[in-house]
Amino acid sequence: MHPKELLFQKACEVRKKAYAPYSQFLVGACIEAEDGNLFVGCNVENASYRATTCAETNAISAMISAGKRKIKQIMLVVQGPAVSAPCGICRQSLNEFAGADMIVHLATENEIKTSHSLCELLPHAFGQNDLL
Ligand code: THU
Repeated sequence: MHPKELLFQKACEVRKKAYAPYSQFLVGACIEAEDGNLFVGCNVENASYRATTCAETNAISAMISAGKRKIKQIMLVVQGPAVSAPCGICRQSLNEFAGADMIVHLATENEIKTSHSLCELLPHAFGQNDLL
């Protein structure tokens, strides 16, 4: 497992590339997949607001496009003095590809503040097992 500081550095870098002219809220995410590969994503807004995509979603897309299916850990970096947890839709998307004991790290631009299990963020999740 990579140190969370490496994911933090990469999430901070990609955050600067976020396209967020409407909210001005730049978000960066970095995923470590099951094999140690790292995938980044930033939020991409749209004049048709519903077409906006979140940083986590875009990092997941990069991971899936590379043929990986499981997330070991994800770092989420937002701006401002306080951290933000992933939105509800992103929690559901993370649940789809969560490896065992996946960790969600939350950070501001300055520091990593907290770490959580997905179960903590999305208790009683609906997932693949419900459809078996
Ligand atoms: N956003 C993310 O990228 N991830 C989240 O989990 C929450 C929200 C983005 C979407 C939008 O571009 C901006 O933050 C404000 O909601």
